[in-house]
Amino acid sequence: MKRASLLFLLLLCIPALADQYELLGSYRSHNLKGNILTVTTDNRTLELSVFEGGVVKVLVGESEPLPIEVSSLPPQTLSLDEGPQLKLSFPEGYVEVEKEPVRISVYRSDGTLVTADDPAFGHGWDGKEVRCWKRLQEDQRFFGLGEKSGDVNKRGRFFTNWNSDIPAYRNDTDPLYCNIPFFSSVSESKAFGIFFPNSYRSTYNFGAGNDRLFSFGAEDGPLVYYLFPGPTMKDVIEDYSDLTGRMPMPPKWSLGYQQCRWSYYPEYEIRDLAKEFRQRKIPADVLYFDIHYMDAYKVFTWHPERFPNPVQLLSDLQEDGFKTITIIDPGVKVEPDYPVYQEGLENDHFLRYQDGELYRGQVWPGWCHFPDFRRAATRAWWGAKNAMLQDRGVDGFWNDMNEPAVWGKEFPYVVEGIKALHNVYALYMAQATYDGLKEAAPDQRPFIVTRAGWAGIQRYAAVWTGDNSASYDDLALSIRTNIGLGLSGVPFVGCDIGGFIGRPDPELYLRWMQAGSLSPFMRSHTIHDSPDQEPWAFGEETERRCREAIERRYRLMPYLYTELHRAHDTGLPLYRPMWLDFPGEEAAYDNAYQHQFMVGSHLLAAPVIRQGQRFQKVYLPKGDWYEPGTGEIHGGGKAVLVEAGLDTLPLFYRAGAVIPTRPVQQYVDESPLTELRLTVVPGDTGVYEMIVDDGLTTDSPVEKWTFRQNGRDSVRIDLGSGPRAAALQTLKFKVVGAENLKFNGTTLRKEGEWFVASARSGELKFTPGLQGR
Ligand code: GLC
Repeated sequence: MKRASLLFLLLLCIPALADQYELLGSYRSHNLKGNILTVTTDNRTLELSVFEGGVVKVLVGESEPLPIEVSSLPPQTLSLDEGPQLKLSFPEGYVEVEKEPVRISVYRSDGTLVTADDPAFGHGWDGKEVRCWKRLQEDQRFFGLGEKSGDVNKRGRFFTNWNSDIPAYRNDTDPLYCNIPFFSSVSESKAFGIFFPNSYRSTYNFGAGNDRLFSFGAEDGPLVYYLFPGPTMKDVIEDYSDLTGRMPMPPKWSLGYQQCRWSYYPEYEIRDLAKEFRQRKIPADVLYFDIHYMDAYKVFTWHPERFPNPVQLLSDLQEDGFKTITIIDPGVKVEPDYPVYQEGLENDHFLRYQDGELYRGQVWPGWCHFPDFRRAATRAWWGAKNAMLQDRGVDGFWNDMNEPAVWGKEFPYVVEGIKALHNVYALYMAQATYDGLKEAAPDQRPFIVTRAGWAGIQRYAAVWTGDNSASYDDLALSIRTNIGLGLSGVPFVGCDIGGFIGRPDPELYLRWMQAGSLSPFMRSHTIHDSPDQEPWAFGEETERRCREAIERRYRLMPYLYTELHRAHDTGLPLYRPMWLDFPGEEAAYDNAYQHQFMVGSHLLAAPVIRQGQRFQKVYLPKGDWYEPGTGEIHGGGKAVLVEAGLDTLPLFYRAGAVIPTRPVQQYVDESPLTELRLTVVPGDTGVYEMIVDDGLTTDSPVEKWTFRQNGRDSVRIDLGSGPRAAALQTLKFKVVGAENLKFNGTTLRKEGEWFVASARSGELKFTPGLQGR
């Protein structure tokens, strides 16, 4: 009886014990070797590796190969003070390791705290689950994790990273399609970031339901993370993208306007569509083939009746300046006579259950097998299939359903290795596609746009935000998710303009077109049973206003392309929150202004995102701002109210900017750049370096043209001596506030609103325009 009650008591204790995390415990010994300090504790080892830039890699327990290849960062030199605590110092800062129990705190060299373990928890595990708890600062804001709903600042929320197909998602839906295990934080205007390269289902608590901790962890896999100490958010994102890779330069046409619907078919529909754009003089670069182009939705086929001669069609469209993009889903139809299926079977390309049986799931074609993109041979096979389409004239590739999705459900967990593969499936698929296209045409820049992704997706693809809905809430949400993706290392982002599900009214469509006209990826798209959603489908007035929005984008192309280049060079998003450029300004973080965004560091947009709104309250960071639409100059450091009628996208150039534009074209490569227009907003922010190349090939020589403001009365223009500068014939200038302009000593004549000069390097002099306020 006694023994039985003891057993009963013990049994009662078991569930409680199972809920407890095991923690690192006390210090036992340590060992410093090169840039790695290993601390042995009661329960596991803690390994700290330090790299240049003060990047600290933390590993608890055994290491495992990372799901993605990362760059090897240069190791940092370390010194160690051994006392009651260990103090590991390096030029950018130091890490303090407490011994009883083992906890770490990371500091910058000026003594400011980067982040510290929670004193009671730190690092822990529960069975296979791993987790890290850190102390929450009172004013701490959180950003990132890829495509996430809600506010730009994620403080107070709990997130799961598990790529998911969630059509008609809402403002609190989580997770969505493209989850990235990298987040960052700002506190007292200083930033740090954490990259947790664990591809299992992971979760993040940014002070949700508590005021003590933020934490991250995963259901399995290694407890390993990189800590980027900042101190600025720009440093954090640059360091993260140093590690996970930068966006290769995409072709310039991918910045052009793109038109999609599910689906344009048969052939005459797409030919008519092309004609409409050109006849109506609405600039456009890309037309899409959604799933109906395929024969019974079989990937890498063309429907024989709908598209009997795709090669001819694609070449005719190209003649007319259009690029084409086809959708590619990973599911391969199970059909004995289908060559792709046969090849996949013969070469063992498909995913299997743990017992060896091939996995089948349902998507558009019906029952499908799914390539195992972990295998190099499978990636090569898939890449070559894409390259075959490219060879026949397809210009870009749209990777969809790659969460992977099987009618909104998931692969069973007994599919071999799926728990670790799920989140990186889309990344591997994009890699397969990218590598295949490069292999077949090494000097061409591939263009891929994907729905799902993971850390490093920027190396292969642009990301669009999946199946949104035609509502003002979704318009606003799209701005926030795109900003969030940019802060997560993905600069080339966009959404379905107009909303994928449902029917926008003319005003919503227009407002979305205006906001979208400055997003890096600009595509209008809609579902299969919806009414027409092209820019002319909402009446003449809306068509005119949409044309104006798209034309402005094409005018700004030299600026947008330069900023895309800069994103490729630095990893920083071109589409970004104001506080990235103005980190010390509290109001720049305010949710009231989170739908304003910068494009590069010289242009600020504050699109209207509410129905019926005809005025916009805009926060302008410190400094002066020029509103090109009205010619007004506003003093910053405060909110202003500007007119925002239906014709208007509130837009501002920062004082000190020299914004390069060009005359409108119907597509980006319609004609070479012979006329460059420079709008000078006098101010002190220095030099604008415009970047020019052929926009198409990987080894195209890059020319850098510099516009250097000297004081507030002149700009030095240096075009260098490259062939693109030689092809430039005309320079046109507008200097805000100045009416007397001289270029290289000659007084310039005015044509319309521009002062005209022949193109060459030189000194632009003007009567001081903008005075400081
Ligand atoms: C998915 C995509 C959508 C596409 C549709 C048909 O829902 O997200 O963009 O149009 O599939 O391919």
